[in-house]
Amino acid sequence: MSSNVPCHICAAPVQEFFDFGRQPLSDAFLPADADLGQEFFFRLAVGVCESCTMVQLMEEVPRNRMFHEAYPYHSSGSAYMREHFENLAKQLLSTELTADDPFIVELGCNDGVMLNVIAGHGVRHLGVEPSGGVADVAAAKGVRVRKSFFEESVAKEILAADGQADVVYAANTLCHIPYMDSILAGVRTLLKPTGVFVFEDPYLGDIVERTSFDQIYDEHFFFFTARSVQEMARRNGLELVDVERLSVHGGEVRYHLAPAGRRSPSEAVAALVAEEERRDLAGLGTLREFGDKVMKIREDLTALLEKLRAEGRTVVGYGATAKSATVTNLCGIGPDLVPFICDTTPAKQGRLSPGTHIPVKEPSAFSGDYPDYALLFAWNHAEEIMAKEQGFREAGGKWILYVPDVHVV
Ligand code: SAM
Ligand code: TMP
Repeated sequence: MSSNVPCHICAAPVQEFFDFGRQPLSDAFLPADADLGQEFFFRLAVGVCESCTMVQLMEEVPRNRMFHEAYPYHSSGSAYMREHFENLAKQLLSTELTADDPFIVELGCNDGVMLNVIAGHGVRHLGVEPSGGVADVAAAKGVRVRKSFFEESVAKEILAADGQADVVYAANTLCHIPYMDSILAGVRTLLKPTGVFVFEDPYLGDIVERTSFDQIYDEHFFFFTARSVQEMARRNGLELVDVERLSVHGGEVRYHLAPAGRRSPSEAVAALVAEEERRDLAGLGTLREFGDKVMKIREDLTALLEKLRAEGRTVVGYGATAKSATVTNLCGIGPDLVPFICDTTPAKQGRLSPGTHIPVKEPSAFSGDYPDYALLFAWNHAEEIMAKEQGFREAGGKWILYVPDVHVV
């Protein structure tokens, strides 16, 4: 398969390597009485740039369709992630935010899970968050928020109002933004020459190693590697100076970018780039093999769910994640196989999952009458969830996982 889609980083051709077919928006949970005929679908396919090696979606979804007043994802929903961001805030406070009157800008601050720690320390900050509902939650915690999409023009306005930043930070946000030139120009505009741009996102190396194909959905436009981030930085007057592997969300990398020539890259950067080269991570052969494994998971998961249904076993979905839209729609999993998904997010409860229309219910629907099996869509929070749901195990319940392959524990 080849295509003429130009790379969003360098404009060279992007080679498609996997097509998930027609997919809905992963966070577009529908009201129970919605007109299902009006649901928005797009072609979810993924490719790799021949030149800069950036892995990216072949089709872009307009940003206002995904990020708006009713965007349902609340970052503070996981105790583990709250701790993760608190630790990161403390790390930044003791390293990069030690100048006189330091200033930090966060892109995609969501419900203020990170910035509320910074605000608590009285440090000057600004969150830039286009999704109004979650931005209001952040503001109610005492976080200073600007309700808009970050882009170059917004960076200029922030600079005029607040001055240069010591740190620009983004978690699980940069990979959502196809218009990268505008973002990086904005970051350059805002950053002090001594400043740093830190961002963390799902790592292609982990996605390929674990076949975590459900990380691929409308909102995740880019799948970064050290090599592709290095190239993206270089084209925009920035330099990749450090990388940290993180275990959260199924494996991420935290990248540190500085204005070019201002900091010496750490050994970790060269080591990760070399490891990616050795694995041929962005090679079409590697990526097509990943696609074959995805098809095997699809086959195995569908077969297991059909077998359990035939045996009269009950299966409930656990965690109405954005990721679950990719799995349910690729595998054709609807309410006939999984009658409901339980989730702690009030904005998702009482609604139907995108595309395959599985009702989402409160966690009490799970613990009130345990099923025989729980299909763990929120596998990235497995430790936290399994610890919380000891009662399910004690009642004889089993977890179904599909990453890195379909297995029951
Ligand atoms: N940082 C939080 C975390 O790690 O949990 C939130 C991540 S959430 C998956 C992505 C966030 O990015 C959403 O809250 C969305 O509204 C925001 N976003 C999308 N495009 C953006 C842009 N151009 N500028 C700033 N935020 C953006
Ligand atoms: P995420 O994988 O994008 O972080 O989404 C996790 C989803 O799972 C979110 O909708 C909240 C839900 N969830 C639960 O229902 N119970 C839990 O214990 C946790 C940690 C998450």
